[in-house]
Amino acid sequence: MKLPLVELHLHIEGTLEPELLFDLAARNGVTLPWASLPELRAQYEFDDLQSFLNLYYRNLDVLRERVDFDDLTRAYLERARTAGVRHAEIFVDPQAHTSRGIPLLTALGGVRDALDASEADWGISTKLTVTFLRDRPAAEAMAMLGEILAGDFRIDGIGLDSAEVGYPPELFTEVFELARANGLHLVAHAGEEGPPAYVWQALDLLGVERIDHGIRSLEDELLLDRLVRDRIPLTVCPFSNVRLRVIDTLADHPIVRMLDRGLLACINSDDPAYFGGYIDDNLAALDREFGLGPDRLALLARNGIEASFLAAAEKAALG
Ligand code: ADE
Ligand code: ZN
Repeated sequence: MKLPLVELHLHIEGTLEPELLFDLAARNGVTLPWASLPELRAQYEFDDLQSFLNLYYRNLDVLRERVDFDDLTRAYLERARTAGVRHAEIFVDPQAHTSRGIPLLTALGGVRDALDASEADWGISTKLTVTFLRDRPAAEAMAMLGEILAGDFRIDGIGLDSAEVGYPPELFTEVFELARANGLHLVAHAGEEGPPAYVWQALDLLGVERIDHGIRSLEDELLLDRLVRDRIPLTVCPFSNVRLRVIDTLADHPIVRMLDRGLLACINSDDPAYFGGYIDDNLAALDREFGLGPDRLALLARNGIEASFLAAAEKAALG
């Protein structure tokens, strides 16, 4: 039987597969700099987070209409069902769209249209997290959060993503305070490329409930003690870590060390259209690489359920 999987670290824009990208370009009359799929695929070699982000943001140009965001999200949910995903907490980057003239309602509304059909059409419950781009001004995030809170956008949480080094969590303290005061869940990318100090800040200044990535926490024993003691989840993304050269090869991935240290780590796909696979592919590759076996695979699946923002009864129904 398939493990009931929960996906907690998934950028919906990072599920834009090359084929859909070409279809949307044709539908919207967008001229691409690549003549063919192989030409586009040849761009999927990254040196670091920034080199990936350059292509990720560039490719968003094909997302123009509300239905485009709906189609993108539906395509992900269809693939997620195949993987055995039963619950998905999805990130969306609205500033990556409003900054190029796409209205907030077009982006968030289109994603929401698909999520509203998700339980009925794919048997997947969902939550939606707005991730603010940390390499843009905190004042812009604040203004957007105000707009979201004033509207009827039905988001469940906020997060922090994009280029990490040089953009510490402390810059966003007020944004997270406002979100907390309004009952939203709080997460942040930290310790992906940035130092353990950014993970401490995310915990102590932003008050996040989960750390996205957090792989560099392994450099700080006191931080590990804190993460273990407070059962702070880390949403780990192995294919992403390899493709963005956080580690050299999958064989170097510290997932086993993380589990042995008692961390509440779970496996996620981050930007699967760019990094070579979805959550099931990540788990299968780790199993092959490290011989995880059924017990540790089940532990990773259980960790995902525990780390989710589902209510206790919903967790019990999954586990
Ligand atoms: N946006 C999309 N994917 C990301 C990642 N892995 N890190 C930071 N920002 C991102
Ligand atoms: Zn991410």
